[in-house]
Amino acid sequence: FSKYIYKNQGYLFIEDIQLKTLQTELEAKIQALPSPVFVYSKAQLCDNVNEYKNAADELESKSMLGYAIKANPNYKILTLLKEMGCTGICVSGNELKLAIKVGFEPTKLVLNGNGKNLWEIELAVKVGALINIDSEDDYTRISQISGVLKLKSRVLLRVNPDIDPQVHPYIATGTKESKFGIDESSVQCIMTKIQQDVFVEVVGFHIHLGSTIDNVTIFRDVAEYLLKMCKNYKEQGFKNLQYINIGGGLGIDYTKHAQQTKPNNNINVEEKQEMPSPSDLIKSIKDILDSSKYTLILEPGRSMVGNTGLLLTKVIGVKKSNTCRKKFIVVDGSMTEVMRPCLYSAYHHIELTEPPHSESPHCEPPNGDTLGEHTEDVYYVVGPVCESADFLGKDRRLATPAKGSGLVVFDVGAYCSSMGSNYNMRCRPAEVLIDGAAWSIIRSPETFDDLLRPYLDVK
Ligand code: LLP
Repeated sequence: FSKYIYKNQGYLFIEDIQLKTLQTELEAKIQALPSPVFVYSKAQLCDNVNEYKNAADELESKSMLGYAIKANPNYKILTLLKEMGCTGICVSGNELKLAIKVGFEPTKLVLNGNGKNLWEIELAVKVGALINIDSEDDYTRISQISGVLKLKSRVLLRVNPDIDPQVHPYIATGTKESKFGIDESSVQCIMTKIQQDVFVEVVGFHIHLGSTIDNVTIFRDVAEYLLKMCKNYKEQGFKNLQYINIGGGLGIDYTKHAQQTKPNNNINVEEKQEMPSPSDLIKSIKDILDSSKYTLILEPGRSMVGNTGLLLTKVIGVKKSNTCRKKFIVVDGSMTEVMRPCLYSAYHHIELTEPPHSESPHCEPPNGDTLGEHTEDVYYVVGPVCESADFLGKDRRLATPAKGSGLVVFDVGAYCSSMGSNYNMRCRPAEVLIDGAAWSIIRSPETFDDLLRPYLDVK
C-alpha cells in the first residue's frame, strides 16, 4: 500500500502495529467506544512535512510552510507540525486560539475567512497574526479594530483571480462565482484606502483556488498572478509587500491503494494520471520565485495529513435484499466520521484488516449464495446512521468478512475527523497515533455524558 501502511500475510499494519491487535488492545483500554477509531502514522506525517521542507529549502527566497488547521486540528498533530517548523493557517478565532495554545509563534500565524467576527479580528490584531482580507467590508472592520487597539495590523489581500481549478464545485474557491476573495477590479479601491490608513499595512497578496488540485501548472499561474500584483503595487509605493501566499489545495491520490492491490472498485487505473507531489508543486514555481525577492507562504492541509490516517471500523454484519441485487457490509463507522463520500461523492479506498479465514464466525453470505468463507462479492459499505447517504464506499469487491472483523477506510487524515458530527447522538471516536511499534491515544472518545451536558447545563 505504502511505506507505512502494508499487508503482511493478509493482515493490515500501520508501521509496526497490526491493526487487528490494536483493535483488541483498544477494547481493553477504552470501554466506552473502542471502535471506530482514527489511526494516524507519525512516520507518514513526518515524511509529508519533510517533502515540503526539502523542496522549499531549494528555493532561493524564503518560505513559510503553513498547515491548514481545519484539515485536522488534533492537538498532538499540531504539536508535531509546530516542532517540525510549520506555522498554522487558521479560518476561525477558535483555530487561532488553538494554534496559540499549541505554541505556534503568533506573528507567523495566518487568519483567513470570509466572515470574520469582531472578536476574531481583535484576537488576530492583538497577537500580531497575518490577516488575509476577504472583502472591503472585512478591511473596514480590521481597520476600525486596529485603530481602537492602536495596533498596526499586517494584512494580505485575498484576490479572486477567476481561475477554475477544475475540482468539485463545493471545494473550488477562486472562480468569480465563489464567495471568497476580492475581484481584481475591486483590489485597487481597497489598496488606495489602505495607503491612507496608519493602522493597516499591506504585506502581500493571497490566492487560494480550491482543494484536490491535481495540476501544478495552476499553482504556477497563481504565483505569476501574485507576483504581477506585487510589482504593480510596489510601483504605486507599497514598500512593505513581502509575501506571496499561493494557498493550499494540492490533491492526494485517493486511488493509490486501489491501484496497488487487485482492484476492488471501478476505478480505471489506465486512465489515471499521477498526482503531483509537494516537491513537484514547489519545483513548478521555483524559477519565477527565485527571480523575485518575495517570501512564499504555503497553506497545505490535505497533502500534509490526508494520507496519514485510516478509520478502523468493525464489521457489524452483511445484509442482502431479496428484491435488489445490492449487498451491504454494515460497519460501526459512518458518515459522522467520514463525510466525504456522502458530501462530495469522494472515493476512499476500503480494505479488510485480516484475511478471510475461519477464526471468527462469518457473516451469512448474501442472497443465499453458497459462498465459502473466501468468497468475494461486490458490496456497498455502509454505516449504522439513519440516513441513506450514509455510505463509505459503493461497489467494492471485498471478501465476505467475518462478523466483528476489522475494515478500514483509507486516507482519512484530512477533512474527516474535523468534519465529523454527532448526528444520531453518535460520539466522536478516539484518535490514535502510531509511532513505530508504539501507539498512543491522542484524542479521547466522546462519551454520552459529553453529549448530554450542554442540555443539562442550561440555566
Ligand atoms: N487555505 C485556505 C484559505 C483554504 O480554504 C483551504 C481549504 C486550505 C488552505 C487548505 O487546502 P488543502 O491543502 O487542504 O486542499 N472539506 C473539503 C475540503 C475543503 C477545503 C477548504 N479549504 C474536502 O473534504 O475535500
